Amino acid sequence: MRYWIVVLFCVLLLVACSGNADSTPTAPPSVTLSPEAARGKTVFSQNCGSCHSTIPETVIVGPSLADIATNAETRKPGQDGRAYLYTAILQPGDFLVEGYDNLMPATFGKQLTGEDLDAVVAYLLTLE
Ligand code: HEC
Repeated sequence: MRYWIVVLFCVLLLVACSGNADSTPTAPPSVTLSPEAARGKTVFSQNCGSCHSTIPETVIVGPSLADIATNAETRKPGQDGRAYLYTAILQPGDFLVEGYDNLMPATFGKQLTGEDLDAVVAYLLTLE
């Protein structure tokens, strides 16, 4: 009789443990940047990082871009995130983020190649 109780206990323990194993949250997939976004990250650190942090709520001169992919969707009604980002970079004076002055240079259209511009937008779109 005792033997069966031990066996039963072991079986229950096994079931409980395997149940736990199933419900253990799996680690989120690691974020690997596409080659274009990786290039954009370099463009960003060379041209934008002096004014923009990618750490949440960290203001340098401009706002943190930590979740710009999400914010960009709702900045201007009727404009999608990608379009907003191009305008924000090329004509920064067109729309000012609340609480900020028009301090972002409007020279990136000349300063960046088209490829660098696309790359930096691709990078910003990964910052959700
Ligand atoms: C001299 C400082 C400065 C530099 C350099 C700069 N920015 Fe800005 N940026 C600002 C300021 C200030 C604002 C807020 C005012 C505005 O909306 O234009 C801003 C706003 C933005 C916004 C809008 C953010 C939002 O939350 O809607 C984006 C996107 C942006 N910058 C991207 C860039 C990118 C990309 C670069 C580099 C290619 C860059 N900025 C370089 C100062 C800068």
